[in-house]
Amino acid sequence: MIDLRSDTVTKPTPEMRQAMFEAEVGDDVMGEDPTVNQLEARVAGLLGKEAALFTCSATQGNQIAIRVHCSPGDELLINSTGHIGLFEAGGPAVISGVTVRKLDAPRGMLEVSDLEDALWPDDPHFTRSRLVCLENTTNMGGGFAYPLQQMESVSKWALEKGLKRHLDGARFFHATVSKGYAPADAASCFDTVNLCFSKGLGCPMGAVLAGTAEDIHQARRVRKMLGGGCRQVGFAAVAMLYALDHHVDRLVEDHEKARRLAEGIAGIEGLNLSFGEPETNIVFFEIAGEFGSAVALQAAMLERGVKIGCSGKQRIRAVTHLDVSMEEISEVVSALKECLRK
Ligand SMILES: Cc1ncc(COP(=O)(O)O)c(C=O)c1O
Repeated sequence: MIDLRSDTVTKPTPEMRQAMFEAEVGDDVMGEDPTVNQLEARVAGLLGKEAALFTCSATQGNQIAIRVHCSPGDELLINSTGHIGLFEAGGPAVISGVTVRKLDAPRGMLEVSDLEDALWPDDPHFTRSRLVCLENTTNMGGGFAYPLQQMESVSKWALEKGLKRHLDGARFFHATVSKGYAPADAASCFDTVNLCFSKGLGCPMGAVLAGTAEDIHQARRVRKMLGGGCRQVGFAAVAMLYALDHHVDRLVEDHEKARRLAEGIAGIEGLNLSFGEPETNIVFFEIAGEFGSAVALQAAMLERGVKIGCSGKQRIRAVTHLDVSMEEISEVVSALKECLRK
């Protein structure tokens, strides 16, 4: 089976499993897991931040950051397709008493002008605008990577307005690899940066939230409150360290696979790329109404051994990753052609 539903479906490689088998571990809630400590120090260093914190998932890292930056009654500003606002089960409202203001932005990338229009004045009628969240790369926005300058402009503006800045970097390295900017330069635009290791990097779990020592100190308490304080979690951290060494630079291959897939799709009558040529590992495309629906295409592809995701009546999402080869991408294109011919 070829699974393009998400880059979360990857399984640890034999080498990663070996590293997990050999991991040195301890009780991380007591701060005694040497591998977690090593991971946190390494990510903090890589991002130029004072401190970092292991979390179980990217969702947990995002929600902890919101709780650290905001108080009940505050509002966060985010692109309308952002994961935090769409797919985290209402976490900002439930966990932090925070409302989410969703702003439309082309390809999910916010500009200062989008935010300027949305910012509430300091008036008792309004929620307090408190936090700006960017997502890089933009998942439902089409897998696009922010230009560094755009993040810098938003960051500078937010600072002037007294807003906190959080980056949902679930696919942060897809962005750095695609755009060629240094992780620390991108991270310098934010108070907190959340990196996920189970998307594209091939780890079974884990994310890291980085920021100031003070914010991460608070984040550790929130993580405990949310039940995210784990014990011998060095077994996961060692996989994440392995991924930093072996699975970051190779992301260019996944981007190339996505481009090949998109090229194939562009040549099939009845299919259209939703956002043009992909920039990273995510390809959205539409099936024209007269050729059927996304659900019907999904079912037909499944019969041919390919799993794809529906993200609308006519829209499909396919994500390339470590566990799909270039040859398999050709098979996917052939299967799509077959389905559209019928
Ligand atoms: C942009 C973005 N942020 C956060 C997450 C949350 O990741 P998880 O479901 O692993 O917690 C995802 C998951 O796909 C994502 O795409």
